[in-house]
Amino acid sequence: MATAVLEQGEDAFRKIFRLYRRKNPLADLSGVLEFRPGDSRLRSVALSADAVSDQDAGRVGLQPLRQWSAYHVDGYPGFLFIVNPFMPGWQHHWVRQCLKLYPQKPNVCNLDLHMSPDSTRDLWSSSHAKLRNKLSQKRNEKTLLEKLRWVTLGFHYNWDTKKYYKEHQSPFPVDLAELSHCVSLACGFPGFKAEAGILNYYHMDSSLGIHVDESELDHSSPLLSFSFGQSSIFLLGGLSRDVSPTPMMMHSGDIMVMSGASRLLYHAVPRILRHPGGGILPPCLSAPPSTDDPNQLCSPSDWEVCELYMQFSRINMTVRQVLEAGGSFPEEGDKMGKRMTQGDSYHSVDIETQEAEEQGLTKRIRTVTQD
Ligand code: SIN
Repeated sequence: MATAVLEQGEDAFRKIFRLYRRKNPLADLSGVLEFRPGDSRLRSVALSADAVSDQDAGRVGLQPLRQWSAYHVDGYPGFLFIVNPFMPGWQHHWVRQCLKLYPQKPNVCNLDLHMSPDSTRDLWSSSHAKLRNKLSQKRNEKTLLEKLRWVTLGFHYNWDTKKYYKEHQSPFPVDLAELSHCVSLACGFPGFKAEAGILNYYHMDSSLGIHVDESELDHSSPLLSFSFGQSSIFLLGGLSRDVSPTPMMMHSGDIMVMSGASRLLYHAVPRILRHPGGGILPPCLSAPPSTDDPNQLCSPSDWEVCELYMQFSRINMTVRQVLEAGGSFPEEGDKMGKRMTQGDSYHSVDIETQEAEEQGLTKRIRTVTQD
């Protein structure tokens, strides 16, 4: 089990974050919770198998609910972990959406902050040929896809004010809303509405700072999180940073649901790790679709690009309900929303913010950063 020494003025969460963030030497991972039967900290959860029909689950790439392995973790009521419930081949579809479709306009991404709308209009088209040639030509220059850190969907999260605004929204992707609907139904949240999404793109040296997702106006709805690609350590803490977090391993296809008493817990991703299965990609991600039509989920040529990207990457999609059912935004929100759509700079993934975090100066930030 890994141990770390508390530095002066450092909170308990930060201490563990620093421990697992460390590269040399890597922390001992024996205390990291793996979601499989036999760990005394886990309680297997029987989901109501008829909450979602096999047909509806299948339409978004999920196995029939009776085949899912879901767990509660002792000490974290409201937290649910579902071990990769995707059918073979379907992770291709979701990865392709995250790389090819969701970064397109009118969705917003980190590159919009310092690039013209024309240059960020279609990251896939401007990157895929370069990515394909990259290995053969040993080019070091990063493609725009490799520079992508986050994409926001639906109500676009404002990283500066940490708020959502009525006027700053675009249509939430229908397929992701359907996937979210299925998962929320399966977990007992029939009223869940997918209104905002944050997609995080990690590479092997990325981390996500300690934070709480509290900007949504409705905390009675769950937060859904979907992971694809390389593995990661997820730290789940308490309502204060003085609570030492539990390290958990997340692999490709895993889904986490934070609800109820766990909805507002501190969490972070200190480290991305190579998946444990050997080979370039996790077997569940590289598994071909079990369909006669290879183009149905992701064409072979699109998958070739995704595969190149995912061998060094992890993608996480979080989906949130922002407003309570029938609720609306406070009035002041409109003005900021208008301002932002006029192209103001409003994001702060920057060294300064990260340095503040390193020194424990900020209460919470949520940025995917590189070393
Ligand atoms: C993750 O990448 O698993 C966590 C994303 C988040 O907390 O927003």
